[in-house]
Amino acid sequence: MSRRVLVRSVVGAAAVIFLILLFHIPDVRTRYNYLSTNEFIASAAAALKAPGHFEIRPTKTASYIHPTASVLPDKIVVIGRLQREDTDWVGQFLPEWQNAIYTVDNTSHALHTQINKGREANAYLSYIIENYDKLPATIAFVHSHRDGYPAGWHTDVQDYDNVISLQRLNIPFVQRNGYANLRCIFSPGCPDEVQPFRDPPKELELDGVLDKDPSLDDVMKDVWPLFFGNNATIPEAIGTPCCAQFAVSRDQIRKRSLAEYELYHEWLMATKVSDAVSGRVFEYLWHVIFGQGPVYCPELEQCYQDVYGIGHR
Ligand SMILES: *[C@@H]1O[C@H](CO)[C@@H](O)[C@H](O)[C@H]1NC(C)=O
Ligand SMILES: *[C@@H]1O[C@H](CO)[C@@H](O)[C@H](O)[C@H]1NC(C)=O
Repeated sequence: MSRRVLVRSVVGAAAVIFLILLFHIPDVRTRYNYLSTNEFIASAAAALKAPGHFEIRPTKTASYIHPTASVLPDKIVVIGRLQREDTDWVGQFLPEWQNAIYTVDNTSHALHTQINKGREANAYLSYIIENYDKLPATIAFVHSHRDGYPAGWHTDVQDYDNVISLQRLNIPFVQRNGYANLRCIFSPGCPDEVQPFRDPPKELELDGVLDKDPSLDDVMKDVWPLFFGNNATIPEAIGTPCCAQFAVSRDQIRKRSLAEYELYHEWLMATKVSDAVSGRVFEYLWHVIFGQGPVYCPELEQCYQDVYGIGHR
């Protein structure tokens, strides 16, 4: 190869790489001081290649990677939304799922919560309470926006897209494990977002303003015995990847009684703490409610493999 051809090839390759990078770097920065999904996946991929960082194991769960539609067709996606939010994408792009979309701010909609209080937890609990005896096998709880950055920043798949997330969801894993957090990336949430005994407790910052409410740490200390019994040991740390998008099995939901879900909902309706705090109480309790320990932070690679069948071959 002549020198000139070589130089041209190198310059051409560099230009292509530059363009690829250009279109993959999110150009919007939010108040969330977190890595975007694409940034994280890039750094995780680099880490995976670094010797000794992650051990690449054979795919133990290979049989779960390609669930066939016929195995468990009865599944539903549950969403809480403001009436101005467009959720047509659910019926349009997820026809293989039933859906239950609760409007939280207008009681004349067929599915609605009584009041708009407690963020998505209100819709999620309302669905469980109203359908406790007629649940399908798999129930996915997700937010109302479909995709994109920054709105969907916490959705942990290509294009932050909940359609892809639900289409790829490894249903047999949900059935086997009972619960799957749809987000694998640790930040924010893992490993110890809530620390009931932290002194001083961590104050919440909302839009750069310190929240004047009781802190999540303190509220959790009160809620834990109320929800799980006076003798339940309050853990030092509670953590899971953020943002309250997850899937559970019917069997797992029914391991708790209807009365327990009613109790959670009563607390949510009665509490005087802000929605920012009460919503987060549930954000960091769903995994516990659905059978996991206080810290549920599966290793990233294993999580992608289990939840989405994304694995190393
Ligand atoms: C509530 O929803 C109904 C049905 O879509 C609509 O006709 C009505 O205007 C809404 N009310 C308010 C206050 O937005
Ligand atoms: C809670 O602990 C107390 C004291 O150890 C014990 O007497 C009581 O039976 C326990 N209650 C339950 C529901 O386990």
